[in-house]
Amino acid sequence: MILNKALILGVFALTTLMSSCGGEDIVADHVASYGVNVYQSYGPSGQYTHEFDGDEQFYVDLKKKETIFWLPGLNKVAGFDPQGALNNIAIGKHNLDIITQHSNSTAATNEVPEVTVFPKSPVVLGQPNILICLVDNIFPPVINITWLSNGRSVTEGVSETSFLSKSDHSFLKMAYLTFLPSADDVYDCKVEHWGLDEPLLKHWEPEIPAPMSEVTETVVCALGLSVGLVGIIVGTVFIIQGLRSAGASRHPGPL
Ligand SMILES: *[C@@H]1O[C@H](CO)[C@@H](O)[C@H](O)[C@H]1NC(C)=O
Ligand SMILES: *[C@@H]1O[C@H](CO)[C@@H](O)[C@H](O)[C@H]1NC(C)=O
Repeated sequence: MILNKALILGVFALTTLMSSCGGEDIVADHVASYGVNVYQSYGPSGQYTHEFDGDEQFYVDLKKKETIFWLPGLNKVAGFDPQGALNNIAIGKHNLDIITQHSNSTAATNEVPEVTVFPKSPVVLGQPNILICLVDNIFPPVINITWLSNGRSVTEGVSETSFLSKSDHSFLKMAYLTFLPSADDVYDCKVEHWGLDEPLLKHWEPEIPAPMSEVTETVVCALGLSVGLVGIIVGTVFIIQGLRSAGASRHPGPL
């Protein structure tokens, strides 16, 4: 069991901008969170992101002081000065210290994360695809999400989103693994979190329709043949019976 560290989280300065499109019939609502600031005493560590409709637009690498856009090419359209994020995080640290003292260092409650694994596209053997490990209800935002292939740790072709904000103040995170679907490979998304007694392994393997073995084929063939033969016999018996009763009813029958 991992120590329940005194951990208090400060989420502040969350500016939510809502705009609706579509005139009177609202067909689409959009939510952009311009500056989700997270700072916590564990580490201590922080996170600064911008989100649009639940997707991460960019985060600021607080150590390298760099803005990292989630969608490649997006930085050509829009830029963001990482200094703004650093200022916010510094304020977050200051506020957290004050709140921590006021709260008498009460530890945050660990939630139990929910894990789902699914492929990005329909699985076709031999066709490159991406496995997505969606981890919901993360609190506090301290987690390890790793991939296993056939029980062995995979470090290549992996990436993950920042902690995405949720309305209940828990977080959501997605981890990705590029892979080549094959009949022989199985995968696990491994999640470590203080809300779990032990690491959680979510298994995934491609669903391949099992090819019919020769024995199965023979059995199916034999069964089909017997059903067919029984049908012919039963049918013949019925025909003969029908002919007989027709023959029997001919003599007394009126003309
Ligand atoms: C703070 O916590 C300590 C230890 O649990 C307790 O003895 C003390 O009374 C608390 N102080 C306040 C102001 O709640
Ligand atoms: C994540 O992994 C690191 C390194 O193995 C470990 O020290 C840390 O305790 C793990 N975090 C959680 C939440 O289990």
